[in-house]
Amino acid sequence: MVSTNQSSNKSQVLSDLPPYIYGTTRLGDEKIPFEERVSVARAAMQEVDWFHTSHTYGSALQVLRAAFDQDRAGVPKLIVKIGWSHAGEIREVIHQNIDPLGLDGLELGQLCLSGSLAEDYANGGECYEVFSRIKQEGLVNRFVLEVFPWSSEVALQALRAGYPEGIVDGYIFYLNPLQRFTSNELWDMLVMRDEPIIAMRTVSGGNIHKLRDVPGYAWKPYLQERAVEVAPIFERSGIQSWTEFCVRFAHGFPQVRATVGATSHLENFKEFLTAAEKIKLLPRDIQDEIIQLQYRWSDELDVKAEPWTM
Ligand SMILES: NC(=O)c1ccc[n+]([C@@H]2O[C@H](COP(=O)([O-])OP(=O)(O)OC[C@H]3O[C@@H](n4cnc5c(N)ncnc54)[C@H](OP(=O)(O)O)[C@@H]3O)[C@@H](O)[C@H]2O)c1
Repeated sequence: MVSTNQSSNKSQVLSDLPPYIYGTTRLGDEKIPFEERVSVARAAMQEVDWFHTSHTYGSALQVLRAAFDQDRAGVPKLIVKIGWSHAGEIREVIHQNIDPLGLDGLELGQLCLSGSLAEDYANGGECYEVFSRIKQEGLVNRFVLEVFPWSSEVALQALRAGYPEGIVDGYIFYLNPLQRFTSNELWDMLVMRDEPIIAMRTVSGGNIHKLRDVPGYAWKPYLQERAVEVAPIFERSGIQSWTEFCVRFAHGFPQVRATVGATSHLENFKEFLTAAEKIKLLPRDIQDEIIQLQYRWSDELDVKAEPWTM
């Protein structure tokens, strides 16, 4: 296990990201009236200048378009999922996102790679030229690589060979008290190299006690089981708000530039904002205890899981 950072010149990379980024999945929920979702998006635009989104999030882009059109000067910078399995489709996916939003380009492209595109990335193939050209054209200003336990090997292989240097600025994955979605080997490498990280799913899908106690609230049984393990640690911390605990946990890693959390409720949104205002590190023993759990979970379950099963 690696616990110290190598000093490097990476500290400025992605340092313009705010500590909290508004995630937009809940804007795609058709059960909530359209106008209500637009007003949440408008409120988020007033407070946060970076959003995370994807054309795959139901009607989220329609909601965002309506919100953006009410205040084009207030349009946030976006992190958007782009990919997927061959280099030729990347531009199309970018346009599937920017065209509905009436934008010319993206600030940050989240590279979601699979199939032959992932192989190409691991082996230093032509995708890097494609990414560079897209950057030069200003279609996407910067890239981060999305990582899952089952795709950690691709990231590791490329990183060891130095292929992403100067083209891909950092890594984005689930990182919250119940999930750290990289293999242990990749995690150690990212920490050692001081690679910039964007942590996703701030509160791990909801309140810890609900995740633990309400049947079906956790979308997979392993999350409920992890909530059983983490709840006593959270309670011991004395922190009242799960959101605050989670924001402090994510930012307990100096590599983490931002945490991405979603909500359709203004009061929950305010909780994210308050938590991100003045972030204090968690007590060392609390942070370390969860880090230890995450090393175990990674080996026991995450790296053995079939893609997309967790
Ligand atoms: N592969 C990917 O790229 C990927 C995958 C997953 C997520 N993401 C990004 O990360 C964002 C966040 O992920 P996520 O939505 O899965 O996880 P999350 O932010 O950890 O959890 C959001 C859920 O928690 C609830 N919630 C938020 N604050 C709460 C509070 N104070 N009390 C109780 N419940 C609360 C929200 O419900 P309410 O609406 O009721 O508040 C929502 O159901 C997404 O919007 C997306 O942008 C990306």
